[in-house]
Amino acid sequence: FTGIARIPCVVHVVWNTNAQNISQAQIDSQIDVLNRDYRATNPDTSIVPGVFSGLIADTRIEFYLATEDPNGNPTTGVTRTQTSTASFGTDDKVKSSATGGIDPWDTAHYLNIWVCQLGGGLLGYAQFPGGPANTDGVVILHSGFGTNGTATAPFDLGRTATHEVGHYLNLLHIWGDDGSGCSGSDECADTPNAAGPNFGVPTFPHVTCSNGPNGDLFYDYMDYTDDRGMVMFTTDQVTRMHACLDTVRKDLPD
Ligand code: ARG
Ligand code: ZN
Ligand code: CA
Repeated sequence: FTGIARIPCVVHVVWNTNAQNISQAQIDSQIDVLNRDYRATNPDTSIVPGVFSGLIADTRIEFYLATEDPNGNPTTGVTRTQTSTASFGTDDKVKSSATGGIDPWDTAHYLNIWVCQLGGGLLGYAQFPGGPANTDGVVILHSGFGTNGTATAPFDLGRTATHEVGHYLNLLHIWGDDGSGCSGSDECADTPNAAGPNFGVPTFPHVTCSNGPNGDLFYDYMDYTDDRGMVMFTTDQVTRMHACLDTVRKDLPD
């Protein structure tokens, strides 16, 4: 695509307790974070050392709550569903009304974002491009969603959705998903080869896989640091996302 790709989103709030029925303000805060992070206008890129700052890239992708539903009727871009399920997992049950959740809207034309309680310390999960339509989209823990309401530190800056939408647009984890080895790759030439995930907020540099002196690019959204430590995508990551939006997900932007 040229210019800006604007992606219509539907947020499916699936709640068991009243607290999980998150506010519109919390939803809006997440859309705002996605727009800042994907346009690289987030001010916290200031934490990136000079040796890496040239890698920071604007994806030219923007997000908005859908204004028209699949039937062509006006919508807020938010659905709210009460469930008897106390907690969901990675089994996609939240993605179907037959299993305690709610079905997606036309996945070719909407980014479906389910927000619910998740078990096992899971912050979120995503489906990569090319998978089954009826489970396409991302799922985010309500307390890792947005920046207010139930959002809870250290995952209260909206970066779980930034990360999961990265997967949805075909990004791999920056360490190459090979455990802690040095043979896995994220297929991006500009991200240093790294061993395993980084957690918390590491101190620069963290050298692994002979990637010194600068070490791992743990400032990247596709690592596993706390929200305040992940602040950037790289040029080659943007290239992968654009390739996805120009092919498999070409009907997604409006
Ligand atoms: N563990 C999740 C995944 O692999 C998300 C990690 C998000 N990290 C964060 N700091 N919010 O997709
Ligand atoms: Zn991930
Ligand atoms: Ca690795």
